[in-house]
Amino acid sequence: MKVIKNRKKIKRILKGSKSLSFIPTMGSLHNGHISLIKKAKRDKNKIIVSIFVNPKQFKNNRDYKSYPRNIYKDLNLLKKHKIDFVFLPSIKDIYSYKTKNKIYLNKFSKTLCGKYRPGHFEGVIDVVNRLVEIINPKKIYLGKKDFQQLILIKKHFSKNNIKIKIIECNTYRDSFGLAESSRNKSLSDNQLDIARKVAKILKKNKIIIKRNFGNYKLNNLKRQIKSLGLNKIEYLKLLNLKTLKYPKINEKFNIFIAYYLGKTRLIDNV
Ligand code: PAF
Repeated sequence: MKVIKNRKKIKRILKGSKSLSFIPTMGSLHNGHISLIKKAKRDKNKIIVSIFVNPKQFKNNRDYKSYPRNIYKDLNLLKKHKIDFVFLPSIKDIYSYKTKNKIYLNKFSKTLCGKYRPGHFEGVIDVVNRLVEIINPKKIYLGKKDFQQLILIKKHFSKNNIKIKIIECNTYRDSFGLAESSRNKSLSDNQLDIARKVAKILKKNKIIIKRNFGNYKLNNLKRQIKSLGLNKIEYLKLLNLKTLKYPKINEKFNIFIAYYLGKTRLIDNV
């Protein structure tokens, strides 16, 4: 496994690699990332993982600083999984060059998380665009847990005619149904227990909503979830995954949620 910290060096090393599979991360790796790695392994391409906690996608410096980091553990894990390249750029490496592509932010960025985290998706698209301009992969692996991010990256690639194949990966859940997230590491035992209950309620209510579409009151679900002892539900919405709008009767949909447990913000879509 080659660990490379410098932009120019990685460009030099990767120059001859035609079929790279790329997994962008902010580190603090968990089973969700491992499931992306396992999926990428099936392709037999060389795999590159980046670890870069991107300051541009955080609300403020405090948020950025408090994001969980564990670089030594991450590197050991990546070594164990026989990753070919790990890219650990500095902020200067990423942000000090002029990009080829212009950031395209589709209007879908204004809803759900975008409504509550101004500048977040712009930061995500900017960094992913910069990373792929440096790495030039054939495929990029992204999780469906961050569905809005996934769609916005897709739209940016398509607008800029970027020919990287996006491999959409299912959300990895623990045995209680809770989606893996680096932020879960910041939860107390009690908060973890609540988050697992939220996941369970969402799954159960999706079935109930399907049966009673039209009569179902989303506010009841909100009340049920809040009574578990959450600080705040930022949003709770149904969305058709294709039209990205409120679903019509008999259309497939997911329930999207963002909520706070203490200071920790969690998202999911079920
Ligand atoms: O999903 C993430 O971890 C980040 O948003 C990403 C895609 C690595 C960009 O910083």
